[in-house]
Amino acid sequence: MAFIKDGKRIVDLRSDTVTQPTPEMREAMFSAEVGDDVFGDDPTVNRLEAMAAERMGKEAALFVASGTMGNLVALLTHCQRGHEVILGDLAHTFINEAGGAAALGGIHPRPLKNQPDGTLLLSDIEVAIRAENVHYPRTRLICLENTHNSCFGTPLSVEYTQAVGELARSRGLKLHIDGARIFNAATALCVDVRELVAPADSIQFCLSKGLGAPVGSVLCGTREFIYEARRNRKIVGGGMRQAGVLAAAGIISLTKMVDRLADDHINARQLMHGIAAIPGLVAEPVHTNIAYFRFAPDVKMSESEFVKQLEQRSVRLLSLGPRRFRAVTHCWVDTNDIEVALGAMREVMHQVA
Ligand SMILES: Cc1ncc(COP(=O)(O)O)c(C=O)c1O
Repeated sequence: MAFIKDGKRIVDLRSDTVTQPTPEMREAMFSAEVGDDVFGDDPTVNRLEAMAAERMGKEAALFVASGTMGNLVALLTHCQRGHEVILGDLAHTFINEAGGAAALGGIHPRPLKNQPDGTLLLSDIEVAIRAENVHYPRTRLICLENTHNSCFGTPLSVEYTQAVGELARSRGLKLHIDGARIFNAATALCVDVRELVAPADSIQFCLSKGLGAPVGSVLCGTREFIYEARRNRKIVGGGMRQAGVLAAAGIISLTKMVDRLADDHINARQLMHGIAAIPGLVAEPVHTNIAYFRFAPDVKMSESEFVKQLEQRSVRLLSLGPRRFRAVTHCWVDTNDIEVALGAMREVMHQVA
């Protein structure tokens, strides 16, 4: 599959969210059996939710519009106003979800330093858990992100997640996983995704990233948790009607798109190997489908000029802050596209050498 614009093939590495539904997804969407999902009548949504719950090893699941909505609904369900959530200072939920939990739920964030591998130190979590004291908000929830988008797409291990889960349980807290890319983590670690999420009380994963669906995420947990989450989804306006049209694509994501994620990881490594060999560019560690790199200190070109020059060569990626870039591989990018992207980068960097 390839993006074609004005007859030209585009290599779009800005994010795995740029993926478009596959022909099989479009077909499934076209012929999806639907009903009013707020009444629980949509058989396709019901099927997706049952499949997702089974896949995650949880009792129940809820189809939501986005990863942001999945995380927000999870936080609103675990916490009351004035409760505190412990999460990473680089967590997507802390940085990139418009402060929804605070804005809508009155939930107080307690950001702890994310280690370069996306973890939070257990000792930091221990210290952050509040004692019962009239001055303090009440700690209620710990959130992890797996894979960790801002920390090189690193997968968090089963052992680490278990350790956080045990700590949470021992202190009467809940554990939520933002598993936007949990299948990338399971693929990279060669483990069943169930093992990765077993210690968590809730997990949301995205269908619309590496799994290629046009819209949607699924929140999973106990039956009781999902019953409450359904109310909170309604509160944030996420009760959709004939949503089976969307869920149909999500079913293809779960059945057809998971096993191919390993290819994205191979392509990301190929990209990084190539980048490491280009004078003026410095590759950062790559673990899954997210590749960060930066300009060497002596490069004079601006980030925006680099991005613009690549765009002129039909290659898209993101500038993410001072002298740093992100490229994400996905099902619309193949090995040949990686070579095209590397060729374009070589050409641009050659000009400034
Ligand atoms: C780790 C992580 N969590 C949550 C989200 C939010 O997903 P959405 O864009 O579907 O709201 C993203 C999106 O990129 C993400 O990377």
